[in-house]
Amino acid sequence: MKTIKLLILAIATYIPGIDRILESKTGGTDSARYCYSVWLRHLVLAEKNGLDSSPKTVAELGPGDSIGIGLAALISGCEKYFAFDVVEYNDVQRSLDIFDELVTLFKNKTPIPGDKEFPAVKPLLENYEFPSHILDSERLERVLETSRLEKIRNSIATSQQDKSFIQYKVPWNDSTVLEKESVDMIYSQAVLEHVDNLPFTYQSMKSWLKPTGYVSHAIDFKCHGTASEWNGHWAYSDLMWKLLRGNRTYLLNREPHSTHIKMMKNEGFDIVCDNSSKSTSDLTKKDLAPRFQSIPDQDLFICDSFIQGIKKEKVLQTK
Ligand SMILES: C[S@@+](CC[C@H](N)C(=O)[O-])C[C@H]1O[C@@H](n2cnc3c(N)ncnc32)[C@H](O)[C@@H]1O
Repeated sequence: MKTIKLLILAIATYIPGIDRILESKTGGTDSARYCYSVWLRHLVLAEKNGLDSSPKTVAELGPGDSIGIGLAALISGCEKYFAFDVVEYNDVQRSLDIFDELVTLFKNKTPIPGDKEFPAVKPLLENYEFPSHILDSERLERVLETSRLEKIRNSIATSQQDKSFIQYKVPWNDSTVLEKESVDMIYSQAVLEHVDNLPFTYQSMKSWLKPTGYVSHAIDFKCHGTASEWNGHWAYSDLMWKLLRGNRTYLLNREPHSTHIKMMKNEGFDIVCDNSSKSTSDLTKKDLAPRFQSIPDQDLFICDSFIQGIKKEKVLQTK
């Protein structure tokens, strides 16, 4: 029954107008508190894992409904923010409203909204107090200076122009959208499970990062409503999955945890954090579609991961 409903929905994605309604919102970054919470979780864990907690240039994949996570990054001290998506969800007025709320949250040193408020958001932290060890009073005074905040706010409206210090590009399908070795940190929240061309995306991230740059990704491996079991999407054949996707710009790439780790290592990333949650599985590997039956055993149980990796400098071989 569930599959029939999903197939009807998939057919609807071919109907002009309905397709836009179905892809009109992502949820999440339409809330300032969500954006604040997500940015600070990435930042707190970067500091904990020995990574740069004052990145000057950041890039985000898949910001969704607003560029709010990036605005939180800018408010907390970043100087340049790039955002790349495949659907133009961001709305300038929404981002302006979120910016104003974010400023208040930072000014009040609001504790990081935790799992009571956002039960589905990962990564979890040990401590949700405002991270004064990173955003100390000297840094806060500097970054919350009125004229600095005004400049960031003014640039929200011009975020699709190169001169702005916010750059929002939709769609992006070419790694030249960003200069090589130009960013300190690339992050994503609930995005890499949706990206169609993962090898190209990891290669692009590697090329954009400065030699000491790092990536910080929260990835959700669950089926996103496409099956009754949380990992039931791995049971569909490729043909059935294609039918269920319909004409959507993106759905799920169905790659499990081990694929991401393998691709990051292939690109030369040193994994400094791989914090995965496991869930019980009513499916065994035999229940999965043939191409998933050979996944490593633990992939069947890993339902989300928070992964941070630092770009390794290539060591030049001398003969
Ligand atoms: C579930 S939403 C997450 C939005 C936001 N990051 C959040 O935390 O609420 C997934 C986002 O990934 C984007 N996306 C899908 N494929 C992408 C790709 N290849 N490159 C960049 N973004 C992509 C979607 O357009 C959407 O904005």
